[in-house]
Amino acid sequence: MVSLPSSASATIDAPSRLSIEFGDRSYDILIGRGVLSDAAAWQALPRAECAVIVSNAVVAGLYGAALQGALAAHYRRVLTVELPDGEAHKDWPTLNLIFDRLLAEGCDRKTVLFALGGGVVGDITGFAAAAYMRGVPFVQVPTTLLAQVDSSVGGKTAINHPRGKNMIGAFYQPRLVVCDLATLDTLPARELSAGLAEVIKYGPIADADFFEWTERHVDGLCARDPAAIAHAVQRSCEIKAAVVAADEREADVRAILNFGHTFGHAIEAGLGYGEWLHGEAVACGMVMASDLSARLGLVPRTFVDRMSALCERAGLPVRAPRLDGPEQWLDLMRLDKKAQGGEIRFVVIEQIGRAALRAVPQTLVRETLAAFCE
Ligand code: NAD
Ligand code: GLY
Repeated sequence: MVSLPSSASATIDAPSRLSIEFGDRSYDILIGRGVLSDAAAWQALPRAECAVIVSNAVVAGLYGAALQGALAAHYRRVLTVELPDGEAHKDWPTLNLIFDRLLAEGCDRKTVLFALGGGVVGDITGFAAAAYMRGVPFVQVPTTLLAQVDSSVGGKTAINHPRGKNMIGAFYQPRLVVCDLATLDTLPARELSAGLAEVIKYGPIADADFFEWTERHVDGLCARDPAAIAHAVQRSCEIKAAVVAADEREADVRAILNFGHTFGHAIEAGLGYGEWLHGEAVACGMVMASDLSARLGLVPRTFVDRMSALCERAGLPVRAPRLDGPEQWLDLMRLDKKAQGGEIRFVVIEQIGRAALRAVPQTLVRETLAAFCE
């Protein structure tokens, strides 16, 4: 079990600052409206001659100039690399675009990378930072709800392989995370919903009170109520920071953050990356993993109904695609990073607010697949 900090009161007027504890690699998560263009408030930026903003055309068009302006006060050279947009481009050729540009510009090993965008940009930039000249510093500037509540925090970096999600990557912590809540104003509704899936995840795995809070506030979150969004980002980051600080490399408890992901990753890889959004696949996967938990006798069926209703109210899918039948599902899930010796392991809910990683009898997994696949 991880001991969680009590929830800080989230304010929409003043930025908040959380710390994620990794000894001399500890870093801050700055949360607030407008913080992206206020680099003076960030503190402790790595010193270098050159900063490189890695983004995509959509996000660079919206926020690239503001970040460039903020960084110009700190770095003599500020470059921007624009990647193609979308999950389908979280791959080797796109990763190489970053290396090509860094080398072409003569960027040295002090160069600081700034990941400006959603989880795709964050994961690929983090991996580039881990590998370029054996490691350069990087800063996460997440601009999707999903990236602010999950992917920018904790140092998992990766690209996809056609056979499996996030299969090639590294644990590599950023120096700072800057969550500007104002960037969420331009996020399409479908992407906001995808981010809500990861917010919803934290209650069942770690915080029963937060689960009830998400049930009470899901409509406000969908309507982008600023106070609700600020609290959701704050509490999600608090929980994620506590879990990751306890188990940086997923030897143990960090696996609970993958609630819903075993089914979800199979959906993403099975349909082809980008067909369903990551958060959509996770939402459906969480309802399926809740069903599995009920079949194991751990939680009552009413919990599955609550999860399903909550995800639906958040605009998320709760019925799964068939793929090529249960055998393809099982093949894809055997590739999951949590599998051991070919045995698939699932994050199950033991009671609301507590999760565990378990091998589950295949008959029960097949029952869940039969119940959910269209
Ligand atoms: P994404 O990065 O594809 O961004 C979603 C879309 O929103 C993109 O088209 C992007 O251009 C656009 N966008 C981004 N910010 C915007 C803004 N402010 N306004 C308008 N449009 C904006 O998707 P995502 O949901 O942010 O991230 C999903 C990825 O994150 C997946 O690859 C997943 O595997 C990864 N992930 C990683 C971790 C981790 O711990 N590293 C955790 C969860 C998810
Ligand atoms: N999103 C899962 C993790 O960070 O471990």
